[in-house]
Amino acid sequence: MLKIIRALTAVTSLFIAKVHVVSRFFITTPIYYVNDVPHLGHAYTMVSTDSIARWRRLCGEEVFFLTGTDEHGLKIAQAAAENGMSPKQWTDLLSPRFQDAWRKLNISYDDFIRTTETRHYETVQAFLSSVYENGYIYKDIYRGLYCVPCEAYYQESELSDGNCPIHNRPVTVMEEENYFFRLSAFTDRLLEWYEKFPNAVRPLSKRNEALGFIRQGLQDISITRTSIDWGVPVPWDDQHVFYVWYDALINYLTAIDYGRDADRFKAWWPSVHHVIGKDIIRFHCVWWPAMCMAAGIDPPANIFVHGWLLVGGEKMAKSAGNKVDPLELVEDFGLDAVRYYLLRDTNFGSDGDFTYEALTARYNSDLANNLGNLLQRVTTVVANKLDGRAPQPAIDSPLAIFATQALNRAKASWNEFAPQDALEAVWSLIHETNARLEVVAPWKLEPGDELENVLGDALECLRLVCITIYPVMPDTSSEVWARIGLDGSPNHQDALTSFTWGLYRSARTIEKGTPLFPRRK
Ligand code: MSP
Repeated sequence: MLKIIRALTAVTSLFIAKVHVVSRFFITTPIYYVNDVPHLGHAYTMVSTDSIARWRRLCGEEVFFLTGTDEHGLKIAQAAAENGMSPKQWTDLLSPRFQDAWRKLNISYDDFIRTTETRHYETVQAFLSSVYENGYIYKDIYRGLYCVPCEAYYQESELSDGNCPIHNRPVTVMEEENYFFRLSAFTDRLLEWYEKFPNAVRPLSKRNEALGFIRQGLQDISITRTSIDWGVPVPWDDQHVFYVWYDALINYLTAIDYGRDADRFKAWWPSVHHVIGKDIIRFHCVWWPAMCMAAGIDPPANIFVHGWLLVGGEKMAKSAGNKVDPLELVEDFGLDAVRYYLLRDTNFGSDGDFTYEALTARYNSDLANNLGNLLQRVTTVVANKLDGRAPQPAIDSPLAIFATQALNRAKASWNEFAPQDALEAVWSLIHETNARLEVVAPWKLEPGDELENVLGDALECLRLVCITIYPVMPDTSSEVWARIGLDGSPNHQDALTSFTWGLYRSARTIEKGTPLFPRRK
């Protein structure tokens, strides 16, 4: 008997252990050059990635969200010199500006890496020593056309009218003794990798772009410099430092302790999700997988490429002189309005145009007239007609099916890295709920079942909306949650299990508050 009980206990605990396995989600942003303070284009990458990380946490996954600053290379050394500082002084001044901006934009990163940290030097040296020992690095003379803002060499044929194709500025002729990475040895292996993992690089158009680079034929790349010393020293030759991209890409491994903690590394790699802008496809979708292969580890499993935020049709950038300060926008419109606009107005994967007019229009239509108005109407009528006593939703409400479909669409979109579609689905629910209020006009009804049902349903919609918008608008979501009389936070552990129609209950009195998003002129 005792044996049977023991066996049953063992089986049960095995079952429980299985049920409680938490999946891991490793998501990264590019690390930012600290030649200037962050602009709205950088903020766009950050807010998008942050919302996906927050969504995954809401789904109960163990998330590791990594960002940081890219502090070596000629561009940074030049910016430091222009400001009369050493590169170290300059980067120590600028890197905190990024951390500060991300704090003000409510970015929930778990680790912030600076490429000047000792842990990064260790990982870069360990990783590239493996590549060297595996025979993929050799020494030669390099003469090439270099674009400093890109920190990259170009072929003559890649230039547009003799200028860098990205920055449209003249390139510099550089000649030096370099170590080279045998990228050419990886053409076939990369093509096989793309074939075997058709979803590794998304969206499809960007996968095709990366494949185009590989099919053109790959040339070996110079990966060290002797002309500057602002970089990670090459461990086998102290005359050289690694070229900035060769150091930067490895940050993704530094943060998960490559070469230091094998168990931690195995727990997070290779099932990473790199989020990058379209200007850095070649580095992430060609060089980086090849570097991983050369070092004997698997390439990154997922790379999501987003488009650019443009101003007047041009990429927002320091060199274009069209930068918009995200913190000024936040001062003006409020944090969540800016976060909402960034994700709602542009399909994640395509280019988007920033304009004050579009931001104001989104603010007024989606936030003031739709979400804000819904909350205001419901809380006002509950306060006025039911003494603030919150009614419950009807199980057979006409909104139940619509809400369930909208939520399913939102969930699927979040999982597909499509915040714009997720928000569109939620706003369709907000719109539908407002439309029902218009038809039933609870403000004209006497207390009774009809009044209670329509208000209970609207409160339930607001509860579901709070959970779905939390990844994009955490403060607004928490505020609405409290205003409709719910305890705790929309970001609670079981958020998704309560993601079904009919669970709204409040024991608190609901008060009419001031408008969440006052209309703007
Ligand atoms: N330091 C490299 C990345 C190394 S990752 C191992 C770099 N830095 S960057 O500061 O120039 O750009 C960082 C990210 O910001 C890139 O993904 C880039 O696409 C993104 N953006 C910069 N300007 C942008 C817009 N105007 N719009 C959208 N994203 C933009 O590249």
